[in-house]
Amino acid sequence: MLETWLTTLGLEVPVLGAPMGGRAGGDLAGEVSRAGGLGMLGAARYTTPDWIAAEAAIARERGGRVGIGLMTWSLDTDDSLLDAAIAEKPTLLSLSFGDPAPYVPRAHAAGIPVASQVNTLDDMRVAEAAGVDVIIAQGGEAGGHTGRIGTLPLLQELLEATDLPVLAAGGIGTGRGLAAVLAAGAQGAVIGTALLASPETVGPDYARTAIVEASSADTVYTSVFDRARHQPWPERWGGRAIANDFTRDFHGVDAPDSQLESTYDPADPRRGVVYAGEAVGLVHGERPAGAVVRQIAADAERLLSRWA
Ligand SMILES: Cc1cc2nc3c(=O)[nH]c(=O)nc-3n(C[C@H](O)[C@H](O)[C@H](O)COP(=O)(O)O)c2cc1C
Repeated sequence: MLETWLTTLGLEVPVLGAPMGGRAGGDLAGEVSRAGGLGMLGAARYTTPDWIAAEAAIARERGGRVGIGLMTWSLDTDDSLLDAAIAEKPTLLSLSFGDPAPYVPRAHAAGIPVASQVNTLDDMRVAEAAGVDVIIAQGGEAGGHTGRIGTLPLLQELLEATDLPVLAAGGIGTGRGLAAVLAAGAQGAVIGTALLASPETVGPDYARTAIVEASSADTVYTSVFDRARHQPWPERWGGRAIANDFTRDFHGVDAPDSQLESTYDPADPRRGVVYAGEAVGLVHGERPAGAVVRQIAADAERLLSRWA
């Protein structure tokens, strides 16, 4: 068994199922936890306290434990999702994209450890100063909103710079990826894209099909979907998504938001968003999330045992 700081939280494998707004609800989180990892609910800005309570219950029933991921910048205007998340006493709370300082003491007062996904060394300093318990080095190859530095350079930089445990996120989709980051000194991996073709995900069927069909060269880092959907993300974070007609028409093009809004169509695979990272090229079929997690962990253990 791969034992790390992360498994001391009660996990059997050092894997977090990524919080993924719009895709990771109770079924996915529960299935990842049932496989020995910790599945995180992705509470997007537009979800509700009731959603968190309902999905946490589903995850717990299925997998015995649950984590919850919130977007820090959105708490700055409305922190009701934080109260809802704390009420669920998750195994881990992640507060990412922004300064978590105002919120960490509230989680700690309830005995909940806090993670923060960061994209630069400066971000890590902010999260450290806020008192988080674990840092997640999220590289720019990750799916969804992310930064620009690649996972490996960022991971190495952060491991050199902190005594906190560090997890790696971005581009890890097989046992090789997990083995690589563990060998580098990470305490585990956060896996998102590799789970996105699983039947336990929320979202349109075309999203799972697009994930299976896309190659690692098919993603684009863009803000056009945020602009089209009125998602007020701070400018520094773009989102990595599968390229489609919408990104080909508008990414890097000087078009008004009103045109993006009227053209965007979530029901149409050519115009709706499917956030995914470069690890999408490692997903070859629709597989249950538990099978994906178990295989990644078993393959990593086998690869690492060569050096034991
Ligand atoms: C569809 C999608 C939605 C995401 N939503 C969130 C989110 O709500 N909160 C968050 O902290 N990270 C979010 N992320 C980022 C993931 O937590 C994680 O960093 C990323 O999936 C890891 O890289 P990978 O996709 O290459 O595995 C999202 C990622 C994806 C693919």
